[in-house]
Amino acid sequence: MNKTILITGGAGFIGSHVVREFVKKYADYHIINLDALTYAGNLENLKDIEHLPNYTFVKADITDQALITSIFKKYQPDGIIHLAAESHVDRSISDPTAFVMTNVIGTVNLLNAAREIWKDDMTGKRFHHVSTDEVFGALGASGFFTEDTKYDPHSPYSASKASSDHFVRAYHDTYGLPIVLTNCSNNYGPNHFPEKLIPLCIHNILNNKPLPVYGDGKYTRDWLFVIDHARAIDLVFHQGKNGDSYNIGGFNEWQNIDLIKELCAQMDRKLDRPAGTSAKLITFVKDRPGHDLRYAIDATKINKELGWKPSVTFEEGLSLTIDWFLTNQEWLNNVTSGDYQSYYNNQYKGA
Ligand code: NAD
Ligand code: TYD
Repeated sequence: MNKTILITGGAGFIGSHVVREFVKKYADYHIINLDALTYAGNLENLKDIEHLPNYTFVKADITDQALITSIFKKYQPDGIIHLAAESHVDRSISDPTAFVMTNVIGTVNLLNAAREIWKDDMTGKRFHHVSTDEVFGALGASGFFTEDTKYDPHSPYSASKASSDHFVRAYHDTYGLPIVLTNCSNNYGPNHFPEKLIPLCIHNILNNKPLPVYGDGKYTRDWLFVIDHARAIDLVFHQGKNGDSYNIGGFNEWQNIDLIKELCAQMDRKLDRPAGTSAKLITFVKDRPGHDLRYAIDATKINKELGWKPSVTFEEGLSLTIDWFLTNQEWLNNVTSGDYQSYYNNQYKGA
């Protein structure tokens, strides 16, 4: 094998698409998927590629420094692509400490382990930290986040991701660790866990349950199809400049309420229901505390330097996503049984 690449969080939503992209595209790489399989991790996401000879799964928790160091010593990865995280803002509001443990301590553990195995020769090595646009805080009605925007996180989730970004840069500046960072906007697509807005609404439309819209629904997000994010990670991992960060976005802003109406219209057509059926489920509920008004990415740098741009329009991506959920209702039923019900009942009391 030409290279060994260790991907953390590869059983999660975005990580599974990154693992698939790498395993299929780089037959000469050994891809190691390191994941703790929390509620968000699901090996079902990878069942189409798990038999391939260049793929290995390792179950491990990144908060366990000794275990992570021993895995790094065993496999001697040339590259790390770090996606493992607690990723849901609402969960960070009810349990911030879990976010500090995985997102901050877990990232520092990985940085320490990489530093340890690469200490004699950092040539050809790379630590790619996958982060979010939420570290930049909230925009008003206009403007965009660039790579130079000052960090201003508001939720425990974004504060923990901001902290991890700072540690990654600090290890570059202090120890010369070869790093790149990417800060991406909201993703959507197949395998998206139904605690996040789009898959939660798809699941609820299928079950005739209320579609909970926080506050007035005017909050704005920039949505990117997950496979386009995986393509961007591939490009930055291989061609990004050492020490640099790259913003990734969909050039695709939607107010939540408009997005949910578009989703309802597409679902009605695909389910052969009269127009307007799903939209009747829209229910305004109590707002999220500290809710960021608007995120929007200026992705000029990755476009100009690496030639990346989204490959699908939002209408196409949303249609592909709905079709995936309609043909994979067993996946949806599996992930929404058990613990999901108690999370849902607690989060949406009274909705
Ligand atoms: P996810 O919640 O779907 O998956 C997270 C994965 O990490 C799961 O497989 C889980 O088992 C694993 N994990 C969690 N804690 C772990 C631990 N302690 N040790 C090992 N593995 C652990 O998340 P996602 O939406 O796929 O996000 C992946 C990454 O991308 C995160 O770093 C997130 O901050 C970032 N990101 C997400 C979005 C988005 O819209 N979802 C946007 C930008 C950036
Ligand atoms: P989410 O998918 O949780 O992503 P993030 O908070 O990381 O942007 O939420 C997207 C937007 O949708 C955000 O403005 C919060 C809102 N939202 C709702 O209105 N209702 C919901 O049930 C959820 C989960 C989110």
